[in-house]
Amino acid sequence: MRIGIAGATGIVGRELVSLLATSKLEVTELRLSATTRSKGIMVATPFGKQNITELNADFFPGLDLCFFCVSASVSEKWVPVAKDQDVVAIDNSSCYRLEDDVPLIVPEVNGEHLGQGEMIIANPNCIVTPLVVALNPVKNLFGLEELCLSTYQSVSGAGQKALDQLEDEIDKHPGPSRDGQFLLNVLGSIGSIDSYGHSQEEIKIINETRKILDLPDLPMAVTAARVAVKRGHCQAVTFITKRWASTEEIRKVMEAGGIIVTDIPPQPLALGGSDCVYAGRLRENKEHRPRSYSLWVGADNLRKGAALNALKIAEEWWFHQ
Ligand SMILES: NC(=O)c1ccc[n+]([C@@H]2O[C@H](COP(=O)([O-])OP(=O)(O)OC[C@H]3O[C@@H](n4cnc5c(N)ncnc54)[C@H](OP(=O)(O)O)[C@@H]3O)[C@@H](O)[C@H]2O)c1
Repeated sequence: MRIGIAGATGIVGRELVSLLATSKLEVTELRLSATTRSKGIMVATPFGKQNITELNADFFPGLDLCFFCVSASVSEKWVPVAKDQDVVAIDNSSCYRLEDDVPLIVPEVNGEHLGQGEMIIANPNCIVTPLVVALNPVKNLFGLEELCLSTYQSVSGAGQKALDQLEDEIDKHPGPSRDGQFLLNVLGSIGSIDSYGHSQEEIKIINETRKILDLPDLPMAVTAARVAVKRGHCQAVTFITKRWASTEEIRKVMEAGGIIVTDIPPQPLALGGSDCVYAGRLRENKEHRPRSYSLWVGADNLRKGAALNALKIAEEWWFHQ
């Protein structure tokens, strides 16, 4: 299989390159691209050292599939170019996720929506993938009536530049504190705020969760925050089911769905490099409403929340086409 990675020098692109070593895909050719700034850089890949080229129309001919690990505006420009050259695009950005004719896929949740012949497949937001993996088994058995969550998102979720900023703040600490500082801080919104007061990140989480769980009217409330953690996103999730279940029943159905359920809450320091979704502190909210439960969910945003899910989409697409 001939694979391209656009954005191969970024934090998700690099994770994807290294994950190819573990993939079931037989890679016969690997092409890597980024901006002109990175042109000519040699990077280590599981198949030997590889040159970074500039992303342009010459990048695509002859590829079977291209992973886009770039911003939404860059995907908007280059995904159609790949499509015109019969290259399937797996896009990590938010650009196409809500398009009706673009499947938004988490293979273990809605892999069956990957039909025949689609040229663009979207990879969800890094909070949404672990969230739907954790809740889909609950939805299937007990129904889902309402969902509220607050996120605690690591700095790597904002890309390499943001991570560099945190490293710099750590190096220079103590220094003058400033607005938007990561170190010793929590930022209570991610992305721009709309006229209703919702952040871009919160709207993405709501719309994508509804699309993947196939619950277009699911009542949801989300608060997304950035915390001074390098890698690993956590979320405090409260949900109301349609049918009462004991916490033991909910735990069992989640474990059967592959989620690692523990008594203690998963911690970001232990999540980096892990492929799993973890859930802890599952409890029934007896002081809230009937059928209300809370839990703490954690996953590696760069793997389960991005590169690993993209790779699993590619495998699902390749082996079932
Ligand atoms: N970080 C996460 O946890 C996460 C999770 C899920 C989804 N995502 C999404 O994945 C995408 C990549 O995120 P990231 O965190 O990896 O970002 P990043 O670290 O900032 O990397 C961005 C990549 O895009 C390249 N690039 C920038 N402008 C370009 C242009 N005009 N033409 C070609 N390449 C260009 C950069 O190349 P240079 O190095 O040459 O500048 C770099 O390789 C984004 O859409 C993001 O929302 C990220």
